[in-house]
Amino acid sequence: MTRTGILPGAIAVALVLAFFDEGTTADLARGRGIALRWCGECHVVAPGQFHGSDSVPTFAQIGGAEHFNEARLSDFLTSPQHSRMPNLSLTRSEIADLVAYIKAQHH
Ligand code: HEC
Repeated sequence: MTRTGILPGAIAVALVLAFFDEGTTADLARGRGIALRWCGECHVVAPGQFHGSDSVPTFAQIGGAEHFNEARLSDFLTSPQHSRMPNLSLTRSEIADLVAYIKAQHH
């Protein structure tokens, strides 16, 4: 196979991924609202916020982490165990919005 075949393939994959991203029901704006309200007391959840706690990872760090994984993050938020994190009893849709918001923070 020649190299010319590779680029169109990569573009097609990127388009498919973008399509699926758009297709999720998660809502970034709602995620941001939940984050500011429920997480901002301890985490720096948005650029320009300075009153989070020093010893807690920022959402930019969490979303940008090399091991970042949406499924893992959802599981963690469903029941944070063995952690200093409180269990905030979030609904599935709140978690989906938060995961989408956190994922978007490393840009
Ligand atoms: C009362 C303070 C507090 C609140 C409120 C809080 N967190 Fe945390 N969070 C922590 C602490 C402390 C840690 C570090 C956990 C540890 O070291 O065991 C943590 C860790 C995390 C981690 C794991 C980071 C990693 O890579 O291990 C995630 C994800 C997270 N928090 C998300 C959230 C979200 C989303 C909310 C809001 C719904 C939230 N937190 C609200 C204190 C809090």
